[in-house]
Amino acid sequence: MIKLSNGHEFEYIAASGTLGYNGKGWPHEWSLRWMGLIDPSLFTIVAKTVTFEPRKGNFKLWCPWRCIRLLPGGVINAVGLTNKGVRWWCEEVGVSVDSEKISLAGSILSNNICELAEMAQMLNDFDLVAVELNWSCPNNGTDLASNTANIIAGCEKVKEVSRFSLIAKLSVVHNIREIVPRIKGVVEAISINSVPWNVIFPNPDNDPEKESPLAHLGGGGVSGKIAQGHTWQLVKELADITSIPVIGPSIWEYGDIEAVRKKGAQAVSFGSVFLQHPCRPTRFVKRDMKENRNRN
Ligand SMILES: Cc1cc2nc3c(=O)[nH]c(=O)nc-3n(C[C@H](O)[C@H](O)[C@H](O)COP(=O)(O)O)c2cc1C
Repeated sequence: MIKLSNGHEFEYIAASGTLGYNGKGWPHEWSLRWMGLIDPSLFTIVAKTVTFEPRKGNFKLWCPWRCIRLLPGGVINAVGLTNKGVRWWCEEVGVSVDSEKISLAGSILSNNICELAEMAQMLNDFDLVAVELNWSCPNNGTDLASNTANIIAGCEKVKEVSRFSLIAKLSVVHNIREIVPRIKGVVEAISINSVPWNVIFPNPDNDPEKESPLAHLGGGGVSGKIAQGHTWQLVKELADITSIPVIGPSIWEYGDIEAVRKKGAQAVSFGSVFLQHPCRPTRFVKRDMKENRNRN
């Protein structure tokens, strides 16, 4: 369980990109929500990331598989932050967020710190439970590994202007030993993004067999069970070096919840499992809550 300084407590996250911009799910998920097979009330939901300006990215509604592919035990995506921008989000989504009904965290991304701070200020008007700073999108053309100074400065700047508790979303390629000590006392939790394809499947000889199916879009990010070796290693390393609570990703089977807790995660997040097995997160959370109750 993670308790934020605003009093909001959470144990289960629906990761950014899973339940849309408002936490009620993407249109293809609505029927499952109506049937109770996806129950947003069980999760703290991170809204889909928005950028300062609208961004075309790679996603096309009529052809989602262009940039999202299902793999055995996971997903690879190169959505590239397709979104209508923060102003659209504020006008169309933010105004109807009600934390009594849904626990929604905003998610913003910019490598320009002034822009990021402006976005964070815009979110202050809404009834969110937290704000996640997405420093780790593998598909936006940034060299993630060399972004250390920007991440530290960006978190500090947003902390100055935001009224919300902050979550920093990091990547396995980040230099956590430099970043994490500097964001202690600034962010209140750390989450973990998908893993760049070439980190999981290095291909020094440029073997076409080992190429990402989304190589034409930069390679993409891998998530789900097949990313656990990397994402859970990061959970463990973070838990070893910091007291900032870590949110454990890549839950695929029920037993993964306990397994990632053992690595040091204080909450768990459901990401690409929503794409392949949309009913699992709700089923797993209900079972985990019940088994925890029985244990206590
Ligand atoms: C189709 C798709 C879209 C995503 N969009 C976002 C996004 O907008 N912002 C973000 O921070 N993460 C995004 N993610 C990453 C997930 O939130 C999550 O961090 C990632 O899938 C790793 O978790 P997992 O192994 O549990 O799936 C997206 C993932 C997928 C598969």
